[in-house]
Amino acid sequence: MFHKVAVIGLGLIGGSFAAAIKQRGLAQQVVAGVRSKRTLQQGLALGHIDAGSDDLAEVVKDADVVFVSVPVSAMEAVFRAMKPGLSSTVIITDGGSVKGNVIQAAINALPEFLPQVVPGHPIAGKEKSGVEAADGNLYEKHRVILTPMEQTLPQATQKITALWQALGAEVLCMSADEHDKVLAETSHLPHLIAFSLVDTLARQGDSMEIFRYAAGGFRDFTRIASSDPTMWHDIFLENKAAVLAATDLFTEGLAQFRQFVAQADSAELLGIMTRANSARRHFLAMSANTAYSTVQPNLDETAMSADSQTSQANPTFVVNPGGTVKGEVRLPGDKSISHRSIMLGALAEGTTKVEGFLEGEDALATIQAFRDMGVVIEGPQAGKVTVHGVGLHGLKAPNRSLYMGNSGTTMRLLMGLLSGQQFDTQLTGDESLTKRPMERVAKPLREMNAVINTSDGTPPVDIHGAQALKPISYQMPMASAQVKSAIMLAGLYADGVTEVIEPAPSRDHTERMLAGFGYPVERDGNRVRVTGGGRLTACELEVPADISSAAFFMVAACIAPGSDLTLRHVGINPTRTGIIDILKLMGADITIENERDSGGEPVADIRVRYAQLKGIRIPEELVPLAIDEFPVLFVAAATAEGETVLTGAEELRVKESDRIQVMADGLASFGVDVETFADGLRIVGQESYGGGEVESHHDHRIAMSFTVAALRATAPITIHGCGTVATSFPGFAELANHVGLNVEVQA
Ligand code: S3P
Repeated sequence: MFHKVAVIGLGLIGGSFAAAIKQRGLAQQVVAGVRSKRTLQQGLALGHIDAGSDDLAEVVKDADVVFVSVPVSAMEAVFRAMKPGLSSTVIITDGGSVKGNVIQAAINALPEFLPQVVPGHPIAGKEKSGVEAADGNLYEKHRVILTPMEQTLPQATQKITALWQALGAEVLCMSADEHDKVLAETSHLPHLIAFSLVDTLARQGDSMEIFRYAAGGFRDFTRIASSDPTMWHDIFLENKAAVLAATDLFTEGLAQFRQFVAQADSAELLGIMTRANSARRHFLAMSANTAYSTVQPNLDETAMSADSQTSQANPTFVVNPGGTVKGEVRLPGDKSISHRSIMLGALAEGTTKVEGFLEGEDALATIQAFRDMGVVIEGPQAGKVTVHGVGLHGLKAPNRSLYMGNSGTTMRLLMGLLSGQQFDTQLTGDESLTKRPMERVAKPLREMNAVINTSDGTPPVDIHGAQALKPISYQMPMASAQVKSAIMLAGLYADGVTEVIEPAPSRDHTERMLAGFGYPVERDGNRVRVTGGGRLTACELEVPADISSAAFFMVAACIAPGSDLTLRHVGINPTRTGIIDILKLMGADITIENERDSGGEPVADIRVRYAQLKGIRIPEELVPLAIDEFPVLFVAAATAEGETVLTGAEELRVKESDRIQVMADGLASFGVDVETFADGLRIVGQESYGGGEVESHHDHRIAMSFTVAALRATAPITIHGCGTVATSFPGFAELANHVGLNVEVQA
């Protein structure tokens, strides 16, 4: 890649850079500019460099890249010292942690070379310093921020980007000002606080005696106060303006916190802490590259200069073929009910306690949205959530757009609910949600007087509040619980009776739960009515296990010879049990045991034993009652005797992915005979099929369905993009392995 790379300053950062280039053979020669003989000898002995000298002009001679990694305060002098040796085509970059000052140093010392200067900052490090701690893999999966100047040539930035990428890093570009502000807030301020806290306490009283009682919290919190004082001294002064601004912001927050403690203001205190909890979770998930994932990045890895961020990829599942499914399990909570428990809990008067809450990303997105609107929500912790309701008119305007991640249910239901608020909102989502149709909800809401703009029918969705909503009677063109629920939630704010007429029954959790919160709902055949202006009273709720999650294991037990599996406490609301009816029609051996009521929702234990399935024509009236279960039902069909035909299911094309096409393509790639129609498909079952590689298409249910498919495959099935599974089923792979599948989760 390069003829000669010169590294000026052979500490941890420079040494690791040199070692990484040597290890990967990216340059014919790596030469170091060093002050001390000892460092030079160490660098040579460790094999990180080929040669070195303290004559910087000599070191940079004929180099095509120069990487300067010295304290920012020494940059200008170093630039001046190396200048006489620089070739006209050299590219100069650096590892300084405050970019404004590096740029100023370059302007002062190297004005003729500015087009070739690409300021940079690798966000990586260790608490150990010096070339002896250098590590050729230090930058792997870490971020490097480049802050090209106006004068910097794009080709120079591209070259340095390619170099860092070759070292395994992820490169981001931003302005130097932005870099310095972001770093002041996320790195410099925490270091300042840690140093200050330890010093403040150490100066207290007559001795260091107090530290004897300091517990793990103190040690964790102040770990970074062990970092190099000289380096941090320099950073604080070099980034003075941004550090002062961040410190002022924090001081203000701290004073407010103090005041809430003094006033024993529980609501405000819980508000701060629950928001901080969720913000941190969000941050961890972001650094793991998913929206709300519960995957914890490796936080033991510590950073010297800043802040290590481990980027964890979206995992791939490699599922080995065959297996038998056995045991008794309780699966995570129902997604639809979990969403509604937060929404109605927030609108209720009083404190709602929820158990069995689904800690999946979709439901967490709902929690986040309500926190953003000022609702204090504690948890979730081991499935327990406490919602401090604010009443129908107590939500506050969020100060940013509400991010719904992958969750269509959150977005559509909130469109209804937010149409009745006094403030404006914007709803956004991830790549998959951004492609999903929102007009089906916007249209009836507009008939109620709501002012809603979609972006060509899809998110982002803008809702203008302060509208007087009027009630409507709406004949739904499709059986959709989301559309029905959105209209009913808007109906709570309308002046009169809002009615929804369904073409076929869809899930009725909103109706049941509203009634549970003491809000009258009138049901009359396929019509449901609510009258605006009532009130919801807080209650206690227990969320049953999600039958949609159970579906994967039901099909697994149906298709894997020798299986016998019991799924405990599963919701069997009749608007959700299409999966059981369809599997039974196919000849499945399913028994429902222990039927009981749990907070207005019927639940039972479901026992499934292996039975050879047979193909059927799926009755269209069962489609809305099994709408989320078709991907895995297609897997059942692929193992059944004879052909299975589905029609009347065009809705499947607008779910998290086009579930007809994506499943058909995947199954066909395994060798299954599949034909698709606009509203369904035909699958010819076979004894077994091959394996191969498939994509989840940002769709949790696709990833889990192909996992189950491996039970009857003859070769492994590899599924890419399985981060999405966490939207509805955290811990799916572990549970699958627990009952007898063989899933390897690869980062
Ligand atoms: C849901 C309704 C269904 C379903 C979705 C959850 C709900 O969507 O597919 O996963 O919680 O109301 P539609 O209403 O679009 O059919």
